[in-house]
Amino acid sequence: MKTTNKKLTDWVQDIARLCKPATIHWCDGSQQEYDRLCSELVDAGTFIKLNEELRPGSFLARSDPRDVARVEDRTFICTADPDDVGPTNNWRDPAEMKALLHGLFDGAMRGRTLYVIPFSMGPLGSDIAQIGVQITDSPYVAVSMRTMTRMGDGALAALGDGDFVPCLHSVGAPLDEGDADVPWPCNAEHKYIVHFPEERSIWSYGSGYGGNALLGKKCLALRIASAMARDEGWLAEHMLILGLESPRGEKTYVAAAFPSACGKTNLAMIIPPKGFEGWKAWTVGDDIAWIKPGADGRLYAINPEAGFFGVAPGTSAKSNPAAMSTIERNSFFTNVALTEDGDVWWEAMTDDSPARLTDWTGQAWTPDSGRKAAHPNARFTAPAGQCPSIDPAWDDPKGVPISAFIFGGRLSTTFPLVFEARDWRHGVYLAATMGSEATAAAEHQAAIRRDPMAMLPFCGYNMADYWQHWLSFAASLPNPPKVFRVNWFRKDAGGRFLWPGFGQNMRVMEWIVRRVQGQASGIESPFGLMPRYEDLNWTGLDYDRSAFQDLMEIDRAAARAEAEDQAALFARFGTRLPPALEEERKELIARLEQAPEVWALPAA
Ligand code: GTP
Ligand code: SPV
Ligand code: MN
Repeated sequence: MKTTNKKLTDWVQDIARLCKPATIHWCDGSQQEYDRLCSELVDAGTFIKLNEELRPGSFLARSDPRDVARVEDRTFICTADPDDVGPTNNWRDPAEMKALLHGLFDGAMRGRTLYVIPFSMGPLGSDIAQIGVQITDSPYVAVSMRTMTRMGDGALAALGDGDFVPCLHSVGAPLDEGDADVPWPCNAEHKYIVHFPEERSIWSYGSGYGGNALLGKKCLALRIASAMARDEGWLAEHMLILGLESPRGEKTYVAAAFPSACGKTNLAMIIPPKGFEGWKAWTVGDDIAWIKPGADGRLYAINPEAGFFGVAPGTSAKSNPAAMSTIERNSFFTNVALTEDGDVWWEAMTDDSPARLTDWTGQAWTPDSGRKAAHPNARFTAPAGQCPSIDPAWDDPKGVPISAFIFGGRLSTTFPLVFEARDWRHGVYLAATMGSEATAAAEHQAAIRRDPMAMLPFCGYNMADYWQHWLSFAASLPNPPKVFRVNWFRKDAGGRFLWPGFGQNMRVMEWIVRRVQGQASGIESPFGLMPRYEDLNWTGLDYDRSAFQDLMEIDRAAARAEAEDQAALFARFGTRLPPALEEERKELIARLEQAPEVWALPAA
């Protein structure tokens, strides 16, 4: 053991006593350790080694079909006062929950190895970074943490005798004498993803999948970090970070919040299309941003992660070529299909599906079998450094300066392609009332739900207080970032997307960059400032003025119904709701009252 950190050694000892593992292993993060764990995972049947020629250094994992996504209704925040978690989180009394967890964790690691995983969220030594230590009985989690975080001896050295966030995880499947293991151990009956923001600790039981199990990600970097950020005056957000470099070499960084499976990875890796020669887009992060005010009054963001845990289905050389290069090697694939030559496949990866596959459940599959070959929430895990568009500054401890915040949901109706908030307060309102349609990234009921700042499942405290934190946050900034709403997903009456999206989103991004630089104009609409047809660069895309009119129009009745519906969200927070947000809602209604039945951009 290479640490004298007493909190850490005591904690490991206490947890070992509780969980009763067969052995303990301290992860050093080395290549040898990673290779050994990967080959043990192959022996155990958890990993299938992919064809070394086609997909070097890569593995397929198939989860238990009962463990395929985040479990929002099994996610809990425990604080002394229930009002501190608010109506959008599941609250439990901390003492009662601890008692329950102690029962579950007692002996939970019997017959398994307890891995101690020191990790840094953020570049080692960055003053925006945080150290966590995860204890887990899952070697799949251990190798995934090596890709997704700065894990091992470096993090342990950065920790020194300092403080860390203890993250305890068990798949909840102890092995007794004579028990045979399964490829994907988990607990089908009991899952608990539990956060104690007041003591800054995490206990996760029963799942080995993604955000339930890689505790640096949603649990630490969003739920616990959001509570830290509230206390310490920064932001922990479900945002990608993207650098846009103009042909003149000026670089503008933006951060964008879209709900799970709504296009963060796509936008983070955007490739400027035909018509944008000389532009470059640089990836800093695809899921999480930690943002702190710098001494110069600007906001600086880091990506706390070191890898991408991205949605596989839909990812193709057409939709996201940078992601396809990133996952060419040294990657894990979870719940995708296996080809006959030992490579991976998922829906829409290629135009034609292979004639024969093994599907994500391990069964033979043909195109006419009537099932999906990959699970809709199948994911890849790949090192960020392998991304061809990775920004040279992605690992910079200082972070990158943010000039704009972008918020967008998956909305088939009502919302135009892009508009700009009138000011910071209006921007916070637009972010807070964002809605989105359901995806496979999480198990939850609603078809459409409000997902404020894309943080509904990730805010570790009362959402009303979080909004107030956002409202107050800009007060100390001389020149707060501009705020935009975007929607790539508007559809026509026949259910077809009105906007080509993906690389073409660069046209919107360029307008945003020029707005930030004071070089682009637009027109006031009831929602906010919009680009006219002539305000966007259309070189290289055949998209006519009337199509753009349809994409940007505001149907007064639909917009009015939307504004009325927001009242139900606000009402849930009672007196804790910041009055500014209700004022903004009333102002929108007033603007809509003045608007024509169909508000449209000028025809020519
Ligand atoms: P998490 O990792 O779950 O937080 O999600 P993410 O926001 O990174 O999601 P991701 O980028 O993987 O989203 C993928 C989904 O968004 C796929 O269904 C894509 O087809 C879709 N998508 C991304 N960009 C666009 C776009 O511009 N237009 C359309 N129509 N779909 C898009
Ligand atoms: C999300 O659901 O927003 C993800 C995947 O990024 S997970 O890490 O599983 O939460
Ligand atoms: Mn996410």
